[in-house]
Amino acid sequence: MEAPLTADDLSAGLKTQRVGRKIQAYAETGSTMDVAHRLAAAGEPEGTVVFAEAQNKGRGRLGRSWASPKGTGVYLSLVLRPQLPLAELPKITLMTAVAVAKAIQEETGLKPEIKWPNDLLLSGKKLAGILTELGRTETPYIVIGIGLNVNTPAESLPETGTSLAQQLGKPVDRLRFARRLLAELDAAYAEFLAGGMPAILESWREFAGFLGGRIRVSLNGRLLEGQALDVDPSGALLVRTENGLVQSVASGEIQIVE
Ligand code: BTN
Repeated sequence: MEAPLTADDLSAGLKTQRVGRKIQAYAETGSTMDVAHRLAAAGEPEGTVVFAEAQNKGRGRLGRSWASPKGTGVYLSLVLRPQLPLAELPKITLMTAVAVAKAIQEETGLKPEIKWPNDLLLSGKKLAGILTELGRTETPYIVIGIGLNVNTPAESLPETGTSLAQQLGKPVDRLRFARRLLAELDAAYAEFLAGGMPAILESWREFAGFLGGRIRVSLNGRLLEGQALDVDPSGALLVRTENGLVQSVASGEIQIVE
């Protein structure tokens, strides 16, 4: 069993402005999302991060669960308090996806693919997922959850999933990776706050290999098929359908059509 990620190890010498200014690390919890919501609702500052070695109620988008086997992945939730209209919340997911993709690329040399809006893939298989939730207390906040399979053994992964170790053929230092991830999240958020969303979108496009290809996505209960063109500045996906119309999809899940 690998050494557990501890708050002391994660924060030692961390040179971030906001992300990780307060870190909690649990051996096991239900979901780091719930812990982060509790902390945020109690007034903890933005940049607070909750890690867990294992989650017994890890959750994903669209009511799915997130398998979180002990000591093999990075499971974290980050509290942010950006002043942002609700409609612009998808930008935070794009910003996070870029930070995760950069951390993977810098630490492993592997170039992940971002699958709009919240998945990171390697060799077409899911490596990581992002879950963005809004806290509607008097002072609203955001909790961003990231689940990433680092050294997760194949038998703990679904057929459609993969891990960094599986792709590299050797284990990855989870502590080093987690610290890099905090640094990339901090840099991306600082850029975002400084009005750098256009540059973030430029980076996002570099990882979004599905752009230009055919996708299916459901829009208002209707299945839409067409060419994925781009994301607009709000983070919505632009899709050109058969009849030439360009539709904007604010949220949902895409299927890549081979
Ligand atoms: C998805 O792909 O649907 C998003 C998965 C998000 C999983 C992470 S693991 C850390 C945090 N805690 C949770 O319960 N979920 C997120």
